[in-house]
Amino acid sequence: TAAKAGGHAKFNFTPIDIATDFEVHVPKGYSTKILARWGDPLFSDADGAYSAATGVPLDMSEKVFGENTDGMELFDVDGKEVIAVNSEYVNPKINLPAASEGTPQNADEVQLLKNLQGVTVMEVADNGNGYEIVVDSPYNRRITHETDMVLAGPLAGHELVKTAADPTGMAVKGTMNNCGSGRTLWGTYLTCEENFNGYFGATGEEPAGEGYARYGIGGEGRYAYEKFDPRYDISNEPNEPHRHGFITEIDPSDPTSTPIKRTALGRFKHENASMAHASDGRVVVYMGDDERGEYLYRYVSNGTYEEGGPTEGLLDDGTLYVAKFNDDMTGEWLPLTPETVDMEVAEVLCFTRMAASAAGGTTMDRPEWVATNPVKVEAYCALTNNKNRGVKPNAGGDETPVNGPNPRETNNYGQIVRWTPADENHASDAFTWDLYVMAGNPEVYDNEYGGSDNVTPGNMFNSPDGMAFSSDGLLWIQTDGNYKNEEDFAGMGNNQMLVGDPETGEIARFMTVPYGAEVTGLTWSLDKKVAFVGVQHPGGSWPDGEGHPRSSVVAVWRDDGVAFG
Ligand code: FEO
Ligand code: CA
Ligand code: CA
Ligand code: CA
Repeated sequence: TAAKAGGHAKFNFTPIDIATDFEVHVPKGYSTKILARWGDPLFSDADGAYSAATGVPLDMSEKVFGENTDGMELFDVDGKEVIAVNSEYVNPKINLPAASEGTPQNADEVQLLKNLQGVTVMEVADNGNGYEIVVDSPYNRRITHETDMVLAGPLAGHELVKTAADPTGMAVKGTMNNCGSGRTLWGTYLTCEENFNGYFGATGEEPAGEGYARYGIGGEGRYAYEKFDPRYDISNEPNEPHRHGFITEIDPSDPTSTPIKRTALGRFKHENASMAHASDGRVVVYMGDDERGEYLYRYVSNGTYEEGGPTEGLLDDGTLYVAKFNDDMTGEWLPLTPETVDMEVAEVLCFTRMAASAAGGTTMDRPEWVATNPVKVEAYCALTNNKNRGVKPNAGGDETPVNGPNPRETNNYGQIVRWTPADENHASDAFTWDLYVMAGNPEVYDNEYGGSDNVTPGNMFNSPDGMAFSSDGLLWIQTDGNYKNEEDFAGMGNNQMLVGDPETGEIARFMTVPYGAEVTGLTWSLDKKVAFVGVQHPGGSWPDGEGHPRSSVVAVWRDDGVAFG
């Protein structure tokens, strides 16, 4: 019963057409400028570090904006605007010498790749020429695979996370495959470790235990790090992968602060983290595990939070839940505790996927970003697609039949599920749910593959992924899908960012990105006049017009200077 898109008063722009070119497009009356590209200097001694021919040299690689920008959040630090932003992964083919053929050949090449991912913290400012990085700001910082971190929460110090280098099981190096983001109520950044498994491999005998297979760890690592850095070799250090796959908290206001891995939020392929303040004062974090047939999770703190009050223990002491969606549009959060899943607390947090299977959660079509509506007690999760229903990605996973929120057998288009907690309390264990949108192609199909009523030839898209609310309660939807613009995807064009109205269901296309790119990551300036949007893995030579394509953050604003965030 959703309305058709277009013309609703809440959208203050004229929706744009699809694009198939190598440019960024926004509505008439809006403008864009590049804020930060892969290789741009954070410090003046890295000026000119990037070259179109050779990328970034090793000795400059920790002083520049990383590659493949992803989730980001902007913070008010004593009136300064500081963005924390993820660099999800590195493209080895364009960062390593051609002779390497995309596989590192020595420890230096591994180090270069490690340095260009992780997190960038950077001050930004508009000094009359549009937003730019404040080079040499004391807040500027790179956080990589090598940065010292601490493990906190019930898994910290456990046998499962002790290594030869860290017999305490408390002191970890690095965060990896930082995908989506989140922010706490107290102004810190949450970076989410997604496909961490790909960095680990075995050069010899593989350790026993079903946890490796369920997380896709074993055999040769995707990036061959294990050949040159024994930390990534599970034959040498079987517990190192147990120290990654977490939500890591970073304080953007203190460049000397030690990032904290919050084990209480579970270990899986974390997409992002959306924190809500429950009506009873507890802190709630919603999180997706982005893999076919995995789950949607919720964490609820034991303690309560008051604005400006203490935060100690809020992300260490609480309960993790997996979502169960019933076909009658009701649902419940199933606690993952020793009583419910017959695993120790530390095992639940290290092998969260197995705990969720034991509890009987609902298998999902790849949970990507979760977003919590700031003006209504409800939340949304993008279920990006499921191209191989029934084919388990990892040993030990569950069957993935069609079910309530994942209603299509072949799902190349994706959908967004929405849930409303009972009693208007995000900490309630019961909820009701519906599908906000089922993406589809109404020009190719007149069945369920044509999408829900709020999908039209004028706004169609596939593979919703990034999502964020603006303060006015509009839902911004970013896609990471098929951009060939043919067959099932004809009429969808390049990846795009759309805006959805939760009340009417309407959806309108706001932005398109260069061919090849996905859109991921969205945050606003403090005055809400400028949106910062991530463009990851573009094609062509965008944005320079020559040389390699460079993942970049783009600033978008209204020409009349009116706030829109
Ligand atoms: Fe890194 Fe699931 O996107
Ligand atoms: Ca994503
Ligand atoms: Ca995706
Ligand atoms: Ca991506």
